[in-house]
Amino acid sequence: MTAKISIIGAGMTGSTTAHWLAEREIADLVLVDIVEGMPQGKALDLMQALPVIGKDVEVIGSNDYAATQGSDIIIITAGVARKPGMSREDLLTTNANIVRTAVENTVKISPQAIYLILTNPLDTMATLAMRVSGLPPERVVGQAGVLDSARMRTFVAMETGVSVENIACYVMGGHGDEMVPLTRHSNVAGVSLRDFLPADRLAAIVERTRKGGAEVINLLKTGSAYYAPAVAVAQMAEAILRDKHLIVPASAYMRGEYGLQDMYFGVPVQLGRGGIEKILEYSLDADEQAELKASAAKVRESIQVMQRLVKIESPGPDR
Ligand code: NAI
Ligand code: 2OP
Repeated sequence: MTAKISIIGAGMTGSTTAHWLAEREIADLVLVDIVEGMPQGKALDLMQALPVIGKDVEVIGSNDYAATQGSDIIIITAGVARKPGMSREDLLTTNANIVRTAVENTVKISPQAIYLILTNPLDTMATLAMRVSGLPPERVVGQAGVLDSARMRTFVAMETGVSVENIACYVMGGHGDEMVPLTRHSNVAGVSLRDFLPADRLAAIVERTRKGGAEVINLLKTGSAYYAPAVAVAQMAEAILRDKHLIVPASAYMRGEYGLQDMYFGVPVQLGRGGIEKILEYSLDADEQAELKASAAKVRESIQVMQRLVKIESPGPDR
């Protein structure tokens, strides 16, 4: 049976995700948006590209959530994106209502689906999606870490001239300016970045990674990044459908890991057919722990704002 992935929000990240997924030929795709004709037009355009690359994928566009029925994976990219000068938190009120609507309208007709959340503020929206859906936390995952780590890998490659294939980077924490690029665990062909690069160059890469999203927004001026976020979530969807047991940094529900409870936060997770199979706990030094704590405090603050704005009926998975 062909797998089915539905993408809610057919804007820049949603339609680009469909593009990356269609190339992988792992599932039929549904694009849903509130703008009439737009998801239908993008779906048709994308389908007409596929004969050229020899991929047999059905892509449907719709303004009706009914089209998502029976999805294996639901990717939520619906919402407003940041403009120059806006933080991800500025998006909270609008996007909370959009994510809530998207989850409520899809979960009833795709009870087996695994949710991948992209909408910002990411960790808060993932927390909201899990709570509204009533699904077990392992079936709701937020995308941030694959993107943030890919940005760091890009900057290391630019600095060193080494192939991106040799560069492994790990960014933990919330998807905000306090994210925690782990320079000790990140490496070039097995050599820790701390040994590979002078401290001042490494510090500049850490800073650029933290501001990676804003750098693109300031250049684009009308929206935020989409190629890299979209391929990041496509990789996660593929890992789930193919049951790859792939370890990636992603936003997951905390039940005591890293000393955190009852919130989504960026940590290394293992992805397979059931969603999150395992959360890995890295050994962190005192500085890394302090940075993680500061990042968690920011995410917690945002979740508290969301909880004041949005009434959630379900008591949460551990109550
Ligand atoms: P966009 O504006 O291009 O697309 C968003 C789409 O959502 C629009 O087409 C809009 O009509 C649609 N939409 C709004 N309400 C809807 C609803 N109730 N149902 C269905 N569709 C609805 O924005 P873009 O660039 O695609 O970004 C989307 C979200 O993803 C933003 O919140 C952005 O901040 C976030 N984002 C997150 C990243 C991450 O790494 N987690 C990276 C990039 C963007
Ligand atoms: C990004 O990091 C805006 O969260 C989005 O590009």
